[in-house]
Amino acid sequence: MHFELSEEHLAVQQAARDFAQTELLPGVIERDTKQEFPAEQIKKMGELGFMGMMVSPQYGGGGMDAISYVLAMEEISKIDASASVCMSVNNSLVCWGIEEYGNEEQKQKYLVPLATGQAIGAFLLSEPEAGSDATSQRTTAIDMGDHYILNGTKNWITNGNSASYYLVIAQTDIEKKHKGINAFIVEKSWEGVVVGKKEDKLGIRGSDTHSIMFQDVKVPKENRIGEDGFGFTFAMKVLSGGRIGIAAQALGIASGAYELSLKYSKERKAFGKEIMHHQAIAFKLADMATEIEAARLLCLKSAWLKDQHLNYDRASSMAKLFASEVAMKTTVEAVQIHGGYGYVKEYHVERLMRDAKITQIYEGTSEVQRVVISRDVLR
Ligand code: CAA
Repeated sequence: MHFELSEEHLAVQQAARDFAQTELLPGVIERDTKQEFPAEQIKKMGELGFMGMMVSPQYGGGGMDAISYVLAMEEISKIDASASVCMSVNNSLVCWGIEEYGNEEQKQKYLVPLATGQAIGAFLLSEPEAGSDATSQRTTAIDMGDHYILNGTKNWITNGNSASYYLVIAQTDIEKKHKGINAFIVEKSWEGVVVGKKEDKLGIRGSDTHSIMFQDVKVPKENRIGEDGFGFTFAMKVLSGGRIGIAAQALGIASGAYELSLKYSKERKAFGKEIMHHQAIAFKLADMATEIEAARLLCLKSAWLKDQHLNYDRASSMAKLFASEVAMKTTVEAVQIHGGYGYVKEYHVERLMRDAKITQIYEGTSEVQRVVISRDVLR
């Protein structure tokens, strides 16, 4: 066992750090205030290979491992968690889901544009009455022979308006409960797809979150993923990897807040010395550094398991549960260290604190992660 990153990993980390500093940092406060999607920046991220990092080069991706993905997600999230959630959904839910379980035609038609940054994807599972309780899908896809007819409403969809392609989870046979659920690739441009209202959110305000309605949408049978009834397992598998991405996002938010706090503590003077020399501040920084390091190790361990093709369900839930709690705690402390400055937009930490909260909610709440972990522990 060794804990050193390879030259390639360090290069990916540096590239993401440089991109975040030069392209995402300018304008991040304004985008948050105006709830503006970072369209130009995401386009550049696609050109640089950040939108399909783990996809095989055969389909236009970067062919990188999950460790590289975690490193890049951390760096992007330190600066702009709205851009990183778009990146995470595209990489680990949509691209990975299609590459792992889609057929060759689906990969050629949809994965190639998604991996090369020509298109953005979204994952549509949550519904007004099916959040954590994901088996209770009300969106229906009725089998009509050579196609399905899709009806229903999906809520809180990241990339809802900016995506061209949706991975939609829907009920095809209510009697069979979760075994009667399927996953489909649906194009946003199809008749009957309606993009609903944009959510006015507490955090990740630059990200594009909408409800999506389906009104008698005709979905060709060839757009179903896998065998009939595979949709719920598909969603669970995809989310398990997605949780590594959100864990890395939480890690980045925490480490971004920590780095700002460290810098501020070295500059700001109170009672005749830099505040880092006051133990009240030094101990906060020590706790932050320790907890962030532990979160990073959990993220990298779950990514390593994925790269080794070992089971990572428990590890990714642990990483997400822990990293999201560290993100919340660290950002609250970062605001405290900054005092009055921490409460205004210019110093970034108030935004990071608002952004941190969603990491405890999406891709499975902290309670859902505890369900996954406890079931494994008690097995
Ligand atoms: N891999 C394969 N199969 C799995 C699985 C996994 N990781 N997890 C569960 N399954 C299978 C089970 O084996 C079971 O199948 P069998 O009956 O054939 O054995 C089936 O799925 C049902 O499993 P459970 O009985 O465990 O289901 P449950 O109703 O108790 O729910 C849950 C478990 C963990 C709470 C699950 O519903 C869940 O993860 N909910 C949260 C959903 C979620 O994360 N939503 C996020 C929305 S997407 C998003 O946020 C994206 C974004 O915009 C950023």
